[in-house]
Amino acid sequence: MLSIKNLVHVYGNGTRALDDVSLEVPRGMFGLLGPNGAGKSTLMRSIATLQTPTSGAIDFDGIDVIKEPEKLRRTLGYLPQDFGVYPRVSAYDMLDHMAVLKGIASGKDRKDTVDSLLNQVNLWPVRKKALAGFSGGMRQRFGIAQALIGNPKLIIVDEPTAGLDPEERNRFLNLLAEIGEQVVIILSTHIVEDVADLCPRMAVLAAGKIQLEGAPADLMQRMEGRVWRKAIDKEALEDHRARFEVISTRLFAGRTVIHVLSDRRPGEGFEPVSGGLEDVYFSTLSASRRVAA
Ligand SMILES: Nc1ncnc2c1ncn2[C@@H]1O[C@H](COP(=O)(O)OP(=O)(O)OP(=O)(O)O)[C@@H](O)[C@H]1O
Ligand SMILES: [Mg+2]
Repeated sequence: MLSIKNLVHVYGNGTRALDDVSLEVPRGMFGLLGPNGAGKSTLMRSIATLQTPTSGAIDFDGIDVIKEPEKLRRTLGYLPQDFGVYPRVSAYDMLDHMAVLKGIASGKDRKDTVDSLLNQVNLWPVRKKALAGFSGGMRQRFGIAQALIGNPKLIIVDEPTAGLDPEERNRFLNLLAEIGEQVVIILSTHIVEDVADLCPRMAVLAAGKIQLEGAPADLMQRMEGRVWRKAIDKEALEDHRARFEVISTRLFAGRTVIHVLSDRRPGEGFEPVSGGLEDVYFSTLSASRRVAA
């Protein structure tokens, strides 16, 4: 459905934010996972036609996104990472206004659209309240409502769960999951569970490059038998980092629990753990950093 080929984006200051990114995104939810500065927003904005890449091609369902941006915009829903200002306008009026901008001219059609979207994202009871007074979770749900105006076939949500509490995060992700399998939804995030829970396909982006791509279950399968855990004292961490491929560290009950990637048992005190998506992600990042170093 969405096909990205050899995309490069170099900012004016020389930062190479996207470095030859190629990606095939099918219908359904696609998780784009990556750390701060990976290039996620740059990629999302390029697909959303808000900036023109330095080189490369993007095609969505036969639309040449770079040559025909206005054509893509008609079928695009976009929730940016920073939505910007939240005015003292009610959720209802703002959504109605945005529906006008999206080209829904008839008052009746607009009322139907706005009513149903506010219900869908569970903001109907607060539709008359000003957006300025909305909580983070309510703002993100409003953001999804505006992205869904006009039944887009391509929906891009850029780090929508950052800063949400677990309950709101859950509510938001369920909302995304309900949008349906007939559209392409790209969800960028640095939170592994966002992807693990609901994306049939995913990619890891780091340092402007696609480091890994596939189905979360397959990627986890590949880690089977290669992830080892050991609880150590904090003082021993440096030494372990020097001797093993430590992919993650975490404090637990005052000790440091490390995960190490190794084809066989790395040594005394290590026990096998079945690799989760977090291990996939952290080992990918650690490998990409090694290449960069
Ligand atoms: N307008 C800009 N001018 C120059 N450099 C930029 C600009 N926007 C982003 N960058 C740089 O491009 C790289 C990728 O940034 P981008 O915002 O796409 O990453 P990201 O994955 O969205 O990060 P985050 O998780 O923090 O949102 C970073 O090194 C960033 O500093
Ligand atoms: Mg970003």
